[in-house]
Amino acid sequence: MTELKPLFNFDQLPAKTTNSNGLTGMDVISVDQFDPDKLAYIFARAREMREMVRRVGGTDLLKGYVLACLFYEPSTRTSSSFIAAMERLGGSIIPITQGVKFSSVSKGETLADTVRTLEQYADAVVLRHPEIGSAKLAADYASVPVLNAGDGPGEHPTQALLDLFTIREELGQIEGLKIAMIGDLKNGRTVQSLTKLLLHFDVSLRFVSPEILRLPLKTMNQVIDAGIDARETHDVADVIDNADVLYVTRVQKERFADLAQYEQVKDYYEITADLMAKAKEKMIVMHPLPRVGEIHYNVDADPRAAYFRQVQNGMFIRMALLAAVLGQA
Ligand code: NCD
Repeated sequence: MTELKPLFNFDQLPAKTTNSNGLTGMDVISVDQFDPDKLAYIFARAREMREMVRRVGGTDLLKGYVLACLFYEPSTRTSSSFIAAMERLGGSIIPITQGVKFSSVSKGETLADTVRTLEQYADAVVLRHPEIGSAKLAADYASVPVLNAGDGPGEHPTQALLDLFTIREELGQIEGLKIAMIGDLKNGRTVQSLTKLLLHFDVSLRFVSPEILRLPLKTMNQVIDAGIDARETHDVADVIDNADVLYVTRVQKERFADLAQYEQVKDYYEITADLMAKAKEKMIVMHPLPRVGEIHYNVDADPRAAYFRQVQNGMFIRMALLAAVLGQA
């Protein structure tokens, strides 16, 4: 055999370095991991990402990094925004987002083994799974960071970060705001996560839902313990004229054991242009999306409809998070 000529001159390749920012190497499982300092850091980075995307579209900050996206439940925004975030930072992805039916999960592989496989290829894993605690379990097995993209009705921490960022960017502040959460407060994981994050701030909270979809006692007790001004009601009319933020959510059909019960509550609320006429001039309507009838299309042209801007913020927040946990921010 002829002498092997080296492929790489390692003296000229930059060494892989990581910054220590308090988030490097961290799993993102719950919003409980974020204090106001970490929030401020992520938001500042997200603004930089926004500016960078607007000016040049992308960079090579995460060149050489691979993210595995493992989705056991349907997703449009969360999966696409993680993918876009990674691509805009010069990294790449392993997409297992078209349902795990095309992966070995359909052969009966456990979550623990799937995650321990993916970490052989990837520097971080994003996981969406129907069971509460699944992201924590995956993180216990994985040595690379695991980011929870929704664990059943449990948490959705990256969504809550982008929701809070949206409130801050749209209204200029969080302190002092009156925030109304509407819809499926029992099963909506985005509601659990955002509610807990808001407890760091001096806000008042209104929870609007039909009786069977009230906020779980566990979350409500955390609200009460935080000394937050909070009230529950069944009627949007009670909150519409005063709210700074209407956070509207979908009734989570997939969490109902009894579909007849779902049918009873699915059309409980609809935010319409007529209703918006009663709202403040400076306020916003948010929704984690998808919507299935909770916000009429006739609200979309209203400048207070923030839900598509909220979608874009998801990419900036996930860019900031990925750069941080991978030690490049
Ligand atoms: C939410 C989710 O999956 O929890 N969607 C999202 O991630 N943007 C909300 C929902 O499905 O209703």
